Amino acid sequence: MPADTHPTSFRIDADPSMLIGVQSIDREHAALITQLNRLIENPKAEPASESFADILSHIGPAISAHFDSEEGVLKSIGIPAHELAEHIEAHTEILEQYAQMNCDLMEGKPLSRSDALLTVKGWIIDHLRDYDSRIREYLPTA
Ligand SMILES: [Fe+2]
Ligand SMILES: [Fe+2]
Repeated sequence: MPADTHPTSFRIDADPSMLIGVQSIDREHAALITQLNRLIENPKAEPASESFADILSHIGPAISAHFDSEEGVLKSIGIPAHELAEHIEAHTEILEQYAQMNCDLMEGKPLSRSDALLTVKGWIIDHLRDYDSRIREYLPTA
């Protein structure tokens, strides 16, 4: 990758490796990735801008609603209690980071576009890879 190319300059294509195997969850993940790409593909979406605030104000509630439905699935498939607790804790931490980012932006704290994109990417893509992907192990095999 050339030195001047930042990984957050490129849209993220949902690929089959991101599929969990629960249709509702996969659909919600795809919708979140679409929102993330709206931020990535809009160079005017600097953290202090209205367009960033607009997209962020959609992402927060969408993430929160997704975590609720995903936690419902997690509880229904009987994953071990410690793993459930860890996963829910990761969700809580993301929602806290989201609230913190909103506070910081409201207070006018400086936040670079690349740091903001990496943080939002962490909430969606890294979380999917590190936590959600484990859901597959507990799904009944058809
Ligand atoms: Fe999750
Ligand atoms: Fe998820």
